[in-house]
Amino acid sequence: MRVVVFGLGYVGSVTAACLADEGHHVVGVDLARQKVLAVRRGLAPLAEPGLAALISQVVDAGRLTATTDAARALNDADVAVVCVGTPSAPNGALFTGYVEDVLGQIGGFLEEHPEGRHLTVVIRSTLLPGTTERLVAARMPDPAGGRYSVAYCPEFLRESSAIVDFGHPPFTIIGTDDDVALAAVTHLFDQVTAPVRQVSIATAESVKYASNAFHAVKIAFANEMARFADAYDVDADALMAVFVEDKVLNVSARYLRPGASFGGSCLPKDVRALIHAVRHADVAAPLLESLLPSNASHTRRLVDHVLSLGWRRVALLGLAFKAGTDDLRESPYVDIAETLTGKGVQVRIFDEVVNPAELVGSNESYIRLRLPHLERLLVDSRAAAIAGADGIILGSDRAPQEVLLDAGVPVLDANTPARHWPQLALSRI
Ligand SMILES: NC(=O)c1ccc[n+]([C@@H]2O[C@H](COP(=O)([O-])OP(=O)(O)OC[C@H]3O[C@@H](n4cnc5c(N)ncnc54)[C@H](O)[C@@H]3O)[C@@H](O)[C@H]2O)c1
Repeated sequence: MRVVVFGLGYVGSVTAACLADEGHHVVGVDLARQKVLAVRRGLAPLAEPGLAALISQVVDAGRLTATTDAARALNDADVAVVCVGTPSAPNGALFTGYVEDVLGQIGGFLEEHPEGRHLTVVIRSTLLPGTTERLVAARMPDPAGGRYSVAYCPEFLRESSAIVDFGHPPFTIIGTDDDVALAAVTHLFDQVTAPVRQVSIATAESVKYASNAFHAVKIAFANEMARFADAYDVDADALMAVFVEDKVLNVSARYLRPGASFGGSCLPKDVRALIHAVRHADVAAPLLESLLPSNASHTRRLVDHVLSLGWRRVALLGLAFKAGTDDLRESPYVDIAETLTGKGVQVRIFDEVVNPAELVGSNESYIRLRLPHLERLLVDSRAAAIAGADGIILGSDRAPQEVLLDAGVPVLDANTPARHWPQLALSRI
């Protein structure tokens, strides 16, 4: 394919060299003359292991060149890959001016050459969800003529291993609903060994943020755990080496599905004790300190949502923190019942397993403290809980779908993100 790569920085120069290495004919475009001249001479415009040798090889082979002239580069191009920077603005916002400029240049070129070959614009610069579509609409001509199509494909390479990462990313994310763009990107990256996932543009944009935020969380977590370990004379390396061996719960997809807050007899108690311990040792652990407030705000959001819906009578199905247990300690559903009751909402609770007469020990004392009138709220069937309710909050109960469908009232599943929750009709806002 004939490819134009906009931006010859860390991402763009590696992308240009690797695509040329895979047999594509690539022109790199940058405003910085020095970078363009370096590439033309077969030199790397920046330091990255293996890049100088690769650029020299593909320039010699006649498959990579560079220019500052975007319009010339776009002549006969099949694909334009946008890799310009998106730095932080002084207030922390993402500065998208360079991407806007490039899209403006591509848009101008397309308007001047309405009869040219189809161009697929692939944006790799990191952008917040919604930005690609907004900037394309603002800077490019109406796509209805079919002169071009757009995909957003986040880049996952890491500096210092960028060339290897380019060929072996965790996945190739193709954000587009356009079949022509999908085919072009699939062809462009056909030598990249990674599973391909086609998603919406906004999902593709967010995957990059989820990934980088999670990497940041992991690093901050490891460093906070190491500070905690140091303070208690524990070998932090040994601790984390064993920790990562658990691929079932620790380093796995577990606990990464958005849903209800955490609760139960262990997580809140142990996080609380850990925070107490780090404070006691004068160790700063802002990430760990944020966990319980974050969790509480998640529960509070659900309660606020129920209140905003105006539900005055609520059926709460499943009170224990997990189905199949009667452990009520720090269950988010106990919190929800307690707060709603306090707000004057009539809550009727059904839980298959929980029987107040059989609760013992700390479980019993917890519920006596938090929901002393539990017996009065509990009913002995789902039907009894649902009768007369304005809506259902699905907690830890495994209610069959047909029961919920037949209920005839809205269901708010606490185990799903809020976008699936019942919403207030616009006319009632
Ligand atoms: N660096 C990384 O490891 C990495 C990894 C994944 C994603 N990203 C994302 O990729 C994007 C690029 O990052 P980078 O580190 O390569 O940036 P960079 O600052 O190293 O390079 C950006 C290049 O774009 C050029 N440029 C700016 N405006 C231009 C224009 N109108 N026309 C042509 N060139 C123009 C600049 O001169 C510069 O050479 C960013 O959005 C970044 O967040 C970076």
